[in-house]
Amino acid sequence: MDICMIGAGYVGLVSAACFSEFGWKVSCVDKDKDRVAALNRSDIPIYEPGLDELLARSIAGGRITFTDEIGPAVKAADLVFLAVGTPMRRGDGYADLSYIYDAITELAPHLNSFKVITTKSTVPVGTSREIERRIRKLRPDADFAVCSNPEFLREGSAIQDFMHPDRVLVGVDDDRAKMVLERVYKPLALRNSPLIFVQRESAELAKYAANAFLALKISFINEISDLCEEVGADVQEVATAIGRDRRIGDKFLHPGPGYGGSCFPKDVSAVIRTAREARTPLSIIEQVQIVNEERKIAMGMRIERTAGGSVRGKTIAVLGVTFKPNTDDMREAPSLTILPLLQERGAVIHTYDPQGRLHGESLLPGVKWFVNVMSACQYVDMVVILTEWNEFRAIDLKILKEQMSGNILLDFRNIFNPKDARRAGLAYFSLGREK
Ligand code: UDX
Ligand code: UDX
Repeated sequence: MDICMIGAGYVGLVSAACFSEFGWKVSCVDKDKDRVAALNRSDIPIYEPGLDELLARSIAGGRITFTDEIGPAVKAADLVFLAVGTPMRRGDGYADLSYIYDAITELAPHLNSFKVITTKSTVPVGTSREIERRIRKLRPDADFAVCSNPEFLREGSAIQDFMHPDRVLVGVDDDRAKMVLERVYKPLALRNSPLIFVQRESAELAKYAANAFLALKISFINEISDLCEEVGADVQEVATAIGRDRRIGDKFLHPGPGYGGSCFPKDVSAVIRTAREARTPLSIIEQVQIVNEERKIAMGMRIERTAGGSVRGKTIAVLGVTFKPNTDDMREAPSLTILPLLQERGAVIHTYDPQGRLHGESLLPGVKWFVNVMSACQYVDMVVILTEWNEFRAIDLKILKEQMSGNILLDFRNIFNPKDARRAGLAYFSLGREK
């Protein structure tokens, strides 16, 4: 099976690496020449645990190649995956499909035999049909089928998610294409991962419905967390109690400073637009988006409140700025709302993030970057945990306290035990637990 993966971003690279691990021959196409050159030097442009080793094995085994030339890769392929970005369009919140349509315009001239063209990118419902229409117009003679195969992988555990998925979802209307996709995913099916074949529109919408539901779960627990604080309940205990009900499930019930990342914010926004256009507004999901935006600002204000009402002239160490741990991704990270808000109100911000500096430095002007936790926390009035990197869990709180001028530790991810923190002499505040 020969695969052409168009787009060597997060989804494209991880999927390409995993397919080549199964033994398929993968040609990874990206129009960013620098990115391709870097990949050809085995220099991986993103931080994702395990990806380096996986790619090194496949490169050494000759199962994966990188190129900026789409023609030969498409001609040789049985299966072409589209994994280019589908960002939020500026101004109106719709999904921007220009990269997808650019890619199909470029690939159309090279359709020399039956090809299965499959979107891995998250695309609004109806896009497969539109792709098919456009290719048909460009190449009335070509033999091809368009399918939808949305990816559910999480950054930071993307390889694990690809290799052990809860399900593989394929939207397909063509029997030959179904056989090709069955074959390419056979290594997963043999390990008992369910392969679900549905109609294309269902696959496209399911991806948005899944992300909207998960975003809803997070906003729900964030609101419950606020309520816990007012009524003297503990959100961890409430989450455990409701999570044991299998109808609810115990995942995605961690309170935090609001969800971020490359998917939830843009997919929530896009599905709201789709639904409004279809005159069936998703009023619950519209509220989720509002709650999440307000959450980030409320967390900034909480820092100010915890600092005694003003942060002017105070130095605050923020630990973790990426939208979640185990990634260097800063897209829609709550830090991008919270840190400027504090700076505007006169705070000096120190920060340390194990991977966030590369992209974070230009996005967070005026912030002082440090190379480890203790140097970032020296002589500060307050420490805020914004992202739950594992290395923060092992912080010796007594030593931390000794570094600081002040004694306030505000933990937005509830990674410490309040008793331990108090024993270390810190004034400890967290979410949804005792005030
Ligand atoms: C992916 C999916 O595409 C998106 O739909 C999903 O919701 C999130 O994950 P991601 O992999 O993060 O997006 O995108 P990005 O990191 O922006 O990578 C896209 C890559 O495609 C870039 O390297 C870009 O250079 C490349 N590209 C883009 C092409 O090769 N050709 C194009 O025409 C456009
Ligand atoms: C998400 C989906 O999980 C994945 O299936 C989809 O393909 C892409 O989008 P990702 O964005 O990588 O993956 O990260 P995820 O682990 O889902 O976290 C998203 C955001 O929600 C992060 O900002 C995280 O901190 C936040 N979150 C998550 C919470 O605040 N509480 C939780 O309980 C879970």
